[in-house]
Amino acid sequence: MKNYKIAPSILSADFSRLGEDVEKVIDAGADMIHFDVMDNHYVPNLTFGPMVCASLREYGITSTIDVHLMVKPVDRIIPDFAKAGANYITFHPEGTEHLDRTINLIKENGCKPGVVLNPATSIGCLEHCINDLDMILLMSVNPGFPGQKFINGTLKKISLVKDLINKSGKDIRLEVDGGINLENIGKAAEAGADTFVAGSAIFNSKSYSETITSMREVLSKIK
Ligand code: DX5
Ligand code: ZN
Repeated sequence: MKNYKIAPSILSADFSRLGEDVEKVIDAGADMIHFDVMDNHYVPNLTFGPMVCASLREYGITSTIDVHLMVKPVDRIIPDFAKAGANYITFHPEGTEHLDRTINLIKENGCKPGVVLNPATSIGCLEHCINDLDMILLMSVNPGFPGQKFINGTLKKISLVKDLINKSGKDIRLEVDGGINLENIGKAAEAGADTFVAGSAIFNSKSYSETITSMREVLSKIK
């Protein structure tokens, strides 16, 4: 089986007991934590900052934290998330004037860089930066809110980006984010994704471990 990773988005976690809820989802089998940062400027919603990431580390969360910055301008906050314990830092190209500079800023701060493409954003910008990336994140919803419906057109885009990754010969994670559930995770994997963000499908389910185990069962059948 490919090295699939399931990354629950804490946007749908219980913020009143965030440390416990994150610990619970990790114990239920999650591979890493997806940390959705929204600034109410680049996206019409506001979530949390580096202090919350740091407090999860202080609480004892040692899993990989995949920070998704829906922030514009994005550069200023990158060192703060690196200090707060981020592992991957992904950002939207619209959030910076200088894509290469922002990728290098993430690396200089000791984190793994990733670029996030919204559903209608072209994959063209990857052409000149793919060799510097550790992750490409494709949005299968328009960013800003949990619980939205998966945009089926993303499947074609996943295949196109998977081809780019294969051609690059680099070890780049292909993450898909938004509306992922038991019904569509298999299709996303067949299209070429290997990392799956799921917020409401996991945190709103009656058993985190049953949901994650069922997701893995679907993934185990992918050729
Ligand atoms: C949306 C976020 C996603 C979202 C996923 O802007 O980037 O990570 O929280 O939540 P679900 O899985 O509920 O669509
Ligand atoms: Zn996200």
